[in-house]
Formats: sequence, C-alpha cells, structure tokens
Amino acid sequence: METVYLDNSSTTKIDDLVIETMKPFLSEKYGNASSIHALGIEAKKVLEDSRKIIADSINADLGEIIFTSSGTESNNLALKGIAFANKEKGNHLITTKIEHKSILETCKWLETQGFEITYLNVDSEGFIDIDELKKAITGKTILVSVIHGNNEIGTIQDLSVIGEICRARGIYFHTDTCQSFTKTELDVEKQNLDLVSLNSHKIHGPKGVGALYIKKGIKIDSLLHGGGQESGIRSGTEDIHGIVGFAEAVKLADEKYIDLMAELRDKLIDGILKIPGSRLNGAMGRERLCNNVNVSFRKVEGEAICGLLDEEGICGSTGSACAEKTLDPSHVLSALGLTHEDSNGSLRLTLSRFTTREDVDFVVSVLPGMINKLREMSPL
Ligand SMILES: Cc1ncc(COP(=O)(O)O)c(C=O)c1O
Repeated sequence: METVYLDNSSTTKIDDLVIETMKPFLSEKYGNASSIHALGIEAKKVLEDSRKIIADSINADLGEIIFTSSGTESNNLALKGIAFANKEKGNHLITTKIEHKSILETCKWLETQGFEITYLNVDSEGFIDIDELKKAITGKTILVSVIHGNNEIGTIQDLSVIGEICRARGIYFHTDTCQSFTKTELDVEKQNLDLVSLNSHKIHGPKGVGALYIKKGIKIDSLLHGGGQESGIRSGTEDIHGIVGFAEAVKLADEKYIDLMAELRDKLIDGILKIPGSRLNGAMGRERLCNNVNVSFRKVEGEAICGLLDEEGICGSTGSACAEKTLDPSHVLSALGLTHEDSNGSLRLTLSRFTTREDVDFVVSVLPGMINKLREMSPL
C-alpha cells in the first residue's frame, strides 16, 4: 500500500537533495566551527554560507540570524529573551489565543515570573482584531507576538499592519513563521518584523534545527550559557549537518510550488465539502496557507476518521479532544467559536510540494464512504 502523506504541518519528508548535501558533514567534514584548523575553518565557512542563504530568504542581514535547535527553542528564546532583557521598560506582553503551544506555554511560565500577558481573541476565520490589539497596548507593553500562518487552520495574519503599529509605539514585534516560511511572503523589512521564528523540518529539511531572526541592535537575554557561539546569544556547538540541510531546503523552496499547492488544496476542499454536514475551518483563498485543509464533520469523531484514513495509507490529523490527549478539544478551534462537537469532528489534511493530483483524487474518493460508515455507527 502506498502512503498518501497529508500531515505536512506536523513534519515533512526530507528532500533527497537535502540528504545528499548533509551527508559529507556527517562523515568526513566533521569539524567544529569554533576550531582554528582546516576542518574547523571549513565548518565555519559552511555555517556562514548557510546563515546567508537563510538571511537572504527573509531579507535580513547575515548577523541577524541565530541558529537554534527548533521552532520551539526559537519561540522560547524570543519571548523569554526579550521579556527578561527589557524588564525595566515594562512587564506586559501581548499574544493571541491561537498560538502554537511553544508560545502559549512560554507565556504561562512568564506569568509565574511576574509578567502580564494579554491573549487576543480571533474572529470565526481566525483573524485578530487590529482595534483590540491597539486597545491592549499599555505603557508597560514590551512585546507583541502573533503567529503568521496558523498550524491548525492555515489562517495568515497581516504582519505588515501589526508591525507598523508596534514600530510606531516602540514595541517589539515577534512572529512565529514555522508554518508560513516559504509558503507566503516573508520580508522582515517590508513587514516591520523585529523577531521571527523559523524551523527546518516543515520545509523538507531535517528535524532539530531552527533559527531566530533578531533585528540588529535588539537586546535579548540568552537561554543557554556556555561557549558563546551564535554571537553569544545561543551557546552550544552548531549542528553543522542540520544547518546545511536547513539552508539547502530553503534553496529548494521555489515560489512556483505555492500556486501548485494552493490549486490542489482548493480541489481537496471542494471535493470534501460535497460531503453533507461538513464545514471548512479557517480563512479562504490567499489568506489561507497554500497547503492547509481543515474541515469539521457533524456527528463524527476526528480520531475515528484518521484511523480509517490510516487503514488506506492516508496520513492526516485532527484537533479532537482524544487526539489532544486532554479532555479539551483544540484551543485553536475553540477560539474560532466551534462547539466541542465540531472541534471533535475536525480533520486536518496538509499538503506539500510532493502531493499529487492522484493523492487528492484518492482522498476525495474514499472519504465520503468513511464518513457515512462512521455516522451509521455513531451514538450521536
Ligand atoms: C506554528 C508552529 N510553531 C512552532 C512549532 C514548533 O517547532 P519545532 O517542532 O521545530 O519545535 C511548530 C511545530 O509544530 C509549529 O507548527
């Protein structure tokens, strides 16, 4: 049975070319970028070349990219690092109710350290209200952190507008772009961004590698202390093979894939919405990530749908309470105003540039039967 992989927001297949580029740095080119001999100098060169590729891709300067171990670490570094380095300016941060857990759990922890956090609401499509943001800003606000493309529902926030407001008020603006990076426009100058979290494994690169863009001149505290790597901000010997793979993945991410994915996304959405009792979660068109489909089915449990899909070799995911391993369904779907029943009946299918028309046709052909079968069995 062939695998139809539609869980690309969880992680992606590593591109074969990325693997080939990484291989020498796992074997003969094993130098430490801090060493002063030939192997070390070679590692340092490739480290800086990789940094340049990633910096260029978001219109940043070389010295503004710090490598980390993940999107999670980048988000932690951005929030904790800015909060503690700017304590004398204020203790208030603003974020949204639909952030990834690596932001929300960091915010919860910051609350225990004396910081105050405002969690902005979103509308039924997942957009924040710009007036609510403006009203939330106080004289003590030091940072606004808003996710760019949402990992569950695909809604893309307008970074430029938020960035302009923050810049005018002298407040730092951080955005988590782990899902949107290479899938929609990202330009730190045009969009007034101060801190940007990136990672590699969502764009066909290796797991365990991330980066944080920090605008030149911004004071930030470190989470990791040690040998002073990464401009003293993130100590620890750099993961050269991972970073090389990350940079290669960025090089391979061509803009042409955005429209191709969006076309297949819309074909999948149109096919699925023909099923009675289904609804799309999140925004439409260009304000939705080109690879995201999130649909709720009435009177069906999302985890059961994923189980039946899996039997056919189709990998998907759900925001149902069972899958979240808690009593509560997805915090993102709840923030949109979905009932528990609709959240529990959600299915997320996320595409990549490797997704084919045949993959989409296959899902659209088998899904209606699965939903019917589950509804016939349902006590609801
Ligand atoms: C929006 C978003 N932020 C952060 C992360 C965490 O990234 P990582 O898996 O590299 O820690 C993810 C991963 O699921 C994500 O989707």
